[in-house]
Amino acid sequence: MRIVMTGSGYVGLVSGACLADFGHEIICVDKDERKIAMLREGGVPIYEPGLKELIARNVDAGRLTFTTDLAGSVAQADVVFIAVGTPARRGDGHADLTYVYDASREIAASLNGFTVIVTKSTVPVGTGDEVERIIRETNPQAEFAVASNPEFLREGAAIQDFKRPDRIVVGIEDERARPVMEEVYRPLYLNQSPMLFTGRRTSELIKYAANAFLAMKITYINEIAELCEQVGADVQQVARGIGLDNRIGSKFLHAGPGYGGSCFPKDTLALVKTAEDAGAPVRLIETTVAINESRKRAMARKVIAICNGSVRGKTVAVLGLTFKPNTDDMRDAPSLSIIQALQDAGAQIRAYDPEGMEAASAMMKDVEFAANPYIAAEGAAAVVLVTEWDALRALDLKRLRGVMAGDGLIDLRNIYRPDDAEAAGFVYASVGRGAPPLAEPLVEAAE
Ligand code: UDX
Repeated sequence: MRIVMTGSGYVGLVSGACLADFGHEIICVDKDERKIAMLREGGVPIYEPGLKELIARNVDAGRLTFTTDLAGSVAQADVVFIAVGTPARRGDGHADLTYVYDASREIAASLNGFTVIVTKSTVPVGTGDEVERIIRETNPQAEFAVASNPEFLREGAAIQDFKRPDRIVVGIEDERARPVMEEVYRPLYLNQSPMLFTGRRTSELIKYAANAFLAMKITYINEIAELCEQVGADVQQVARGIGLDNRIGSKFLHAGPGYGGSCFPKDTLALVKTAEDAGAPVRLIETTVAINESRKRAMARKVIAICNGSVRGKTVAVLGLTFKPNTDDMRDAPSLSIIQALQDAGAQIRAYDPEGMEAASAMMKDVEFAANPYIAAEGAAAVVLVTEWDALRALDLKRLRGVMAGDGLIDLRNIYRPDDAEAAGFVYASVGRGAPPLAEPLVEAAE
């Protein structure tokens, strides 16, 4: 099949490269000439494990090309995906659909023969209807169907998530789109990834409902973590204990500094707005958004407490800046709020991240960046671990403590054992571990 991917951002590039790997002929399009030039020269504008190799392999095989010419590409295509950005609109939190609608207009003008236009960007309920209206208005002769096909991949595990999805969701209003979409995903379909066909509005809502649920699940365990600290319980054991119930499930129950990233913050907010407008407010999600927002800054209070109530004039080392490991993405990263709150309290910040420092330096003021965790910690009153990069999981705690002026270690991802940290001379704080650690790790008797 000939497939055009409109928008070569995160989702567009990963989807394009993976679909090319399935044997389809893919043209990735972007308006950004620099990005396309970089891709043509073998560069990849984002950091995602395995993506560079996947792109190179498919470019070499002649199945994957890059261009800025959307109109020229569309005329040859069987399927045109729309994977452009849908940022939160300034002011009201609604998803900004300008890029989706602009792309629709441009695509409409060059359609040639029956084409399925597929929204892959996360878009509010009803966007497919509007895309269809725009295309019909721009090109009344066009033969086309508009489908919705939300993407559920996670950054850092994007290729694996795309190629082994829990499910593929496709929303259609025109039966002609069904066999076309089955063909697009044939390798997955044959591999027995369930393919769920729904109405278009339903499919659009599934994406928001899924992300909001996951955000709520994280927020729930974060609140339980707070409670654990107050009553002397251990949130990791609570998570294990509730997660073994299949109805709850063990994933997304890691307490931490609050969720961030390019999806959860934006999508929860957009769902709240859509629901409000529809007269069916989603109060659980409204509350989730509010709790998560205040949690990020509240993490700074843990740091201040460990520094005897004040960080004024002191250096605090922040290790891990990206919203999660294995990405260079800083969008809505908890580190942004935590660092701001610490700076507001008078701290000097020195930071280290394996991949995120370039992006971070554009978003933070008055932060010094260090080449490694130990340099970051030199003379610091406290070290805060914000992102659980593998490279930060096995630090030499004695060495770290040795270069510091103070003794605070605030582990917001619970990656160290309290007794190890204390043995290295730290005053240690983590998340939701109000109970003394077990002598043995938690294992069920039945195992
Ligand atoms: C998410 C969804 O998982 C994915 O299906 C969707 O397509 C896009 O949004 P992503 O933003 O890449 O993916 O990251 P994810 O791994 O879901 O983590 C999101 C945030 O939640 C991170 O800040 C992470 O640290 C946090 N998180 C996740 C927790 O704090 N605890 C958990 O148990 C899981």
